[in-house]
Formats: sequence, structure tokens, C-alpha cells
Amino acid sequence: MDRPKSPLLTAALLVGAVALLALLAWGVSSLRTPSAPESEAAPPAAEVLTVYSGRNEKLIGELIERFERETGIRVQVRYGETAQLAALLLEEGPRSPADVFIAQDAGALGALARSESLAPLPEPILARVPDERFRSPDGVWVGLSGRARVLAYNTQRVKPEELPRKVQALTDPSWKGRLGWAPGNASFQAFVTALRLLQGEEAAVAWLRGVQSNQPRKYKNNTAIIEALARGEIDVGLVNHYYVFAAAKDRPEALPVQNHYFEQGDPGALVNVAGAGILRTSRQPALAERFVQYLLGESAQRYFTERTFEYPVVADIDPHEKVGRTLAEIGAPKLDLSKLEDLQGTVRLLQREGVL
Ligand SMILES: [Fe+2]
Repeated sequence: MDRPKSPLLTAALLVGAVALLALLAWGVSSLRTPSAPESEAAPPAAEVLTVYSGRNEKLIGELIERFERETGIRVQVRYGETAQLAALLLEEGPRSPADVFIAQDAGALGALARSESLAPLPEPILARVPDERFRSPDGVWVGLSGRARVLAYNTQRVKPEELPRKVQALTDPSWKGRLGWAPGNASFQAFVTALRLLQGEEAAVAWLRGVQSNQPRKYKNNTAIIEALARGEIDVGLVNHYYVFAAAKDRPEALPVQNHYFEQGDPGALVNVAGAGILRTSRQPALAERFVQYLLGESAQRYFTERTFEYPVVADIDPHEKVGRTLAEIGAPKLDLSKLEDLQGTVRLLQREGVL
């Protein structure tokens, strides 16, 4: 058989050569990965890091400016909703300009990890987060701060000894008309996702139906729940731990609302993390690593702790004194947080059950 091999062969060789060159270039750039020490002189102004941030500018903007001032590295940030940015990164694939992704929750990082979009993090970064519940099982993302699920309660209407030890107990008729929740809130949805993973679909459905039969009041977010608790509209509400402290900060009078933690290992005691990962396609992994290292550094961890009352994820920083409990004392259920990516499945479940 006559084979017109020469044009094909030339094309194949050309493609091969280009691929080899690209590989070599990538190899050279990835050899330069070890993080520069803090004391090193500022790099030339041309160095720009692109960050996609699911945490909002009001919270993280100041921290990023500090990083720019201290290192001379410019950071370009694209802010957005965590889930939307994750979807965008998946869509952009290797064409994405992003070096680093900061996510509000671990589920979105899990989705990127599963599509192999994230690069392995160097050991010194992983070692900063000693609790393996709060970093990726395959070392491609780290938590930056922790947020615990709690049952906030009105201290004038509920005695601490009345409070349930398990989230399951909220299906008890004694809570009829007394509970508030925010089914549209991503943290609530992450909790329901955790319940599905820990106890199975059927148990999650049973819990939702049980709570529904107690006619909970629906709020648009966690802040609205805390306000309703303060007004005495509800007695207890499912929120993240820091909302009560944030509300107390803006209020001259004492807030009659406190946090109650479910018992250790209970799905209600879920601790989720905001976290970060470096894109595999980043062309400047060394800068990206330096940035993530900075977010795990003492000053950034203190900043999260003091500004947001979130839990630090590193060993050498204590939670804000108002929080009054450490992550170890909470005893979050053992769960791979990167598996909390199926929020869509939870949203469908909530819709089917008439919760949303
Ligand atoms: Fe929040």
C-alpha cells in the first residue's frame, strides 16, 4: 500500500518538537519552585500573581495589600462566588490566568482536586496545617480558616441544659415553632451534604422531614437568624459560630444570643474550612506558593482570627478569646471535606423536600 508518509511525518515531528520544547520550558520553570525566604529582596515589579477569590474583598483585600507591600509582588484578584469561580476555572482549564484559588469552602477545592486542576503543595505548606481534617488528603489544598456549625440560642428563652446534644434532636416536637434556619445558605447546604455523607441519603431526608414538621422559620442568611434570635422571634437557630460575635461587635447593648456546640463527632458539629490551592497551570508556582505560605503565616492567621472570629488552622495561634473553644474541643465529625462538593445534589434534595 502506498503511504504518503512524508507530509504526515513532518507534521508529527513538528508537533512532537513543539511539545518537547513546551515540556522543557515547563520543566525549567518548575525547577524554580522552592519558596523564597521572607527576607529576600522584593522581586522586579513585573511579577504579577493572579488570584481567584471566593472570599470577599472586604475581608481579604487588606490582607492581599499587605502581602503586596511586604513582598513587592503584585496581585490581581478576581472576586466572585466560590462555586462560580470553581466552575469558571474548570471551564478555562489550561487557558486560565489564575495562579491561586481561594475558596470559601473545601467542597469547591475538592471539585478542582478531582479534575486534577490543582498542583501538589510543598511539604512546608502542608505541615503548617497539622490537623489532616483541614487539608487535602492528596496534598493539593490547605485550609486557611475554620468555621464551625453551631446552634445559636436566645439565652433568655432557653436554658443551656435544654439544648440538644445531637442535631438529630431538633426533630423532636419540643422544638416546634422555635427553630430558625437558612436553607439557601451555602454553609447550611454544606452541613446537609455532610449529613448525607455521614449517615446516608435516607437519614438526611428523615432529618429534613422531621425538622420540617416542627415548622422552622426560614431566613435568608445567618445574620438574619442571629437578629431573629435577638428579637426573641425564635429560640434556636442553625448558623456558623462567628455570626454571633460579628453581631455583638456592632451593638452597644449585650446580645442575648450564645453558641451551643453539638457533641463531638455529631454531624451538627461540622467544621468546614475556607482554603486555597495552586493551579497546576500556574506559570509562577514559586510566587503562588509564597502567597499561600503568607496566608498561613502568623500575621495572616491572626488577621482571620481577629477580624472574622474564625478558627486559625495553624498550631501556634489561638482562637479569638470570645470564641471560647478550640477546634480540638469541638470534635468535628471525621469527614473528607473535599467530598462536600455535591452542593447541587443537596440543593435538589432541599427543593424536593420543599425546604428551599
Ligand atoms: Fe459565613
